[in-house]
Amino acid sequence: MNDTLANIFSRTSTRSFSGEPLMPAEESALVQALNQPVVFGSEARFRLIGPDIGGGRIGTYGVIRKAPAWVVGCVAECPLAFIDYGYAMEGIILAATALGLGTCWLGGIFGRTGAGRALDLRPGEIVPAVSPVGMLAARSTLADRVIRAAAGSSSRLPPSELFFDGSWDTPLADAGDWALPLEAVRRGPSASNKQPWRILRTGSTGKPEFHLFLKENPVYTHAIPGVVLQDMDAGIALRHFEAAASSLSLPGRWLVDPRPPEAPEAPDIRYIASWVE
Ligand SMILES: Cc1cc2nc3c(=O)[nH]c(=O)nc-3n(C[C@H](O)[C@H](O)[C@H](O)COP(=O)(O)O)c2cc1C
Repeated sequence: MNDTLANIFSRTSTRSFSGEPLMPAEESALVQALNQPVVFGSEARFRLIGPDIGGGRIGTYGVIRKAPAWVVGCVAECPLAFIDYGYAMEGIILAATALGLGTCWLGGIFGRTGAGRALDLRPGEIVPAVSPVGMLAARSTLADRVIRAAAGSSSRLPPSELFFDGSWDTPLADAGDWALPLEAVRRGPSASNKQPWRILRTGSTGKPEFHLFLKENPVYTHAIPGVVLQDMDAGIALRHFEAAASSLSLPGRWLVDPRPPEAPEAPDIRYIASWVE
């Protein structure tokens, strides 16, 4: 397995850290990784900060313990902003994983005001999610284990419930070369581990197209005012699929098809983007 796939498959959320500061080499590699591309042209920007911002901590209500540093970021509001934010932030998460550091997406309740202050937030910008980053604690805390168990974090839906072949009644049985990019989507993190991604393959075996849809929960995705939580899950899926495909030299890119295949349960299943050659 190549390094990109190993990072995607080995990452899990870390909520208990050792408290050791980042080493200078880790810090400079992370700072470099803050400069991420996006798919749809949104303006996202990130900063690496220590545990304290202006004397205050990023409040995590006991979820995160002893994080030595944080990746904070914001995006200018626009229709695809949260998808782009998910895509870009996951690039940083995978860079941290490659350095052997732990991370945890936090899109729910955390100190958004403190993070915004650290970013000198401008009008129209919003902080969708942040992540602690650092060395893992030798042992996870009880709070960590309770959160993981509550979200069922260690399990994923079977591929037959996520990936479809030509029509939404036919699970994708043989994805050929594309099995690993699809598995990279399936192993991705998602808010409360809801795994809202659904992918329909069309086209020929030699030149397939993959259409990403989101089976969103309309109440849950808008639980945090101003943020579309599950759009970040979509962005993470775009990132994992693309990173895996590119590491395997498989061709293609994401674009928005003006006439996408029909969604099976519209409006709760929403089209996001298509992978085409
Ligand atoms: C957009 C997004 C928001 C998340 N928000 C939180 C959060 O607020 N608190 C938390 O403890 N975990 C949060 N998570 C982490 C998920 O619970 C976790 O990714 C999921 O349970 C799968 O576990 P894994 O990351 O260990 O594979 C979030 C994940 C994503 C992708």
